[in-house]
Amino acid sequence: MESHRAVNWKHSILYLAFIYAVLRLVHTNLLLDESPIHHKKWPHLPLRFRHDGTFKILQVADMHFGAGLTTRCRDVLPSQFPYCTDLNTTRFLKALIQLENPDFVAFTGDNIFGSSTSDAAESLLKAFRPVTESGVPWAAVLGNHDQESTMTREELMFFISLMDYSLSQTNPPSEDIDGFGNYDLSVYGAPGSRLANSSVLNLFFLDSGDRETVQGVRTYGWIKESQLRWLRRVSQGHQGQNQDVCHAAKTRPADPSPALAFFHIPIPEVRQLYNQKIVGQFREAVTYSLVNPGVLNTLVSINDVKAVFIGHDHNNDFCGNLEGIWFCYGGGFGYHGYGRAGLHRRARVILAELRKGDKEWMGLERIKTWKRLDDENLNKIDEQVLWESSSPTG
Ligand SMILES: *[C@@H]1O[C@H](CO)[C@@H](O)[C@H](O)[C@H]1NC(C)=O
Ligand SMILES: *[C@@H]1O[C@H](CO)[C@@H](O)[C@H](O)[C@H]1NC(C)=O
Repeated sequence: MESHRAVNWKHSILYLAFIYAVLRLVHTNLLLDESPIHHKKWPHLPLRFRHDGTFKILQVADMHFGAGLTTRCRDVLPSQFPYCTDLNTTRFLKALIQLENPDFVAFTGDNIFGSSTSDAAESLLKAFRPVTESGVPWAAVLGNHDQESTMTREELMFFISLMDYSLSQTNPPSEDIDGFGNYDLSVYGAPGSRLANSSVLNLFFLDSGDRETVQGVRTYGWIKESQLRWLRRVSQGHQGQNQDVCHAAKTRPADPSPALAFFHIPIPEVRQLYNQKIVGQFREAVTYSLVNPGVLNTLVSINDVKAVFIGHDHNNDFCGNLEGIWFCYGGGFGYHGYGRAGLHRRARVILAELRKGDKEWMGLERIKTWKRLDDENLNKIDEQVLWESSSPTG
C-alpha cells in the first residue's frame, strides 16, 4: 500500500514536471517570438558615391527562390542534381556580395517562385537573407511569378519594403499609378565634393506586371501609361534640380543627370537586337507583352536613362543598344529557375564612375558593366562601357 502510494507520488511529480516543462517551452518560445520587436534596419542614407568616386550595383535577375533546402534545382547536369537546392542560390548571392562588395543590390523580379513555396513571407526572408545580413542597401521589383503563393503583388512589395536595408517602395505616395513597386532612388555625389548634396545618378524602378488578358488573348503585363507619366514627371523634376549639378560639374546645361532603369519583362523592341551587335549571348526568344505601351519612346524623350536592366528570359545575358539606350539582361541567377544544364548561373555588375576634377570628384563620367559566373572562380565576362559623358550618343 505504502509503496503503491509512493509510486503514485512519483508519477504525479513526473507528470507535473512534464507539464511544467511543456508550459515553460511554450512560454519561452512565445516570448522569443514576440519579445524582441524587430525594428527595420536602415542603411546609411542617402546613397552616395564612395571616396574613390565609384558606385557599384549588383543586378540579380530571376532568383526564383522556393522553400529553401527542400527546393531542388532545375536544369543542372545530372551529376549536379542530387546536391543542388535553393541553398546554392543563397551561396552564390553571398559569394558575389563578398567578392564584388557592391554599394547597392538591385533585384529585377521573379525573386521568389510563388508556386514552389507555401509561404511567400518565409520564401522572401530566405531569398533576400544574404543581402539583409550583409547590410548592403538594396531594392527589388516584382516579376511575373512572385505573387503565385500567399501574397498579392501589393502585399509582396509592402513586405519587401519593410525588410532590413531595403530601399524598395510600394509606390510613390498619394499617386494613382498602375502596378506595385514604382519608385526612384538618388545616388549623391562623393562625400565632401560640391555635388555631395545633389543626385548625380538616378535609379528608376518600374513594375512591368505579371499576366493579362487582352481581347481574350493571354499575354504578359506591361508598363502602363500612368507609370510612364510618373516617370516623365520624376525625370523632369530631377532635371530641374539638375541646374546646380551642371553648374558645379561644369557640364553643358542640357545634360541631365544620367539615370538607370530596372524592371522585369523586356519591352518588345528588345527582340530587334537579334540582328544587331550585342555584348553577351542571345540564346532564346525574347518574351514580352503583346501590348507595346511606348516605353522606348518615353525613355528616348526623357533623355536621362542610359541603360535599362531587365530579366525574365534567363538564358539571354546580352546588352544591346536601342536608339541610344542600352538594354541589358542580368542573366538567370537562381538554381530553381529554368536555365540550361551546363550553363553557369550568372549576375550583372554595373559600375558608375565620377570624373575627377582638379580638387574633387565631379559628375558622372562613365558607366561600365560585366557579368559574374557561378563557376569555381566566379569568373568575370563581357566587360563593356555603356556610357561615357563625352561620347556623342551620351
Ligand atoms: C550546390 O552546392 C553544393 C554544396 O556546396 C555543391 O556541392 C554543388 O556543387 C552545388 N551545385 C551547383 C550546381 O553549383
Ligand atoms: C551638404 O549638406 C551638409 C548638411 O546639410 C552641409 O553641411 C554641407 O555643407 C553641404 N555641402 C554642400 C557642398 O552643399
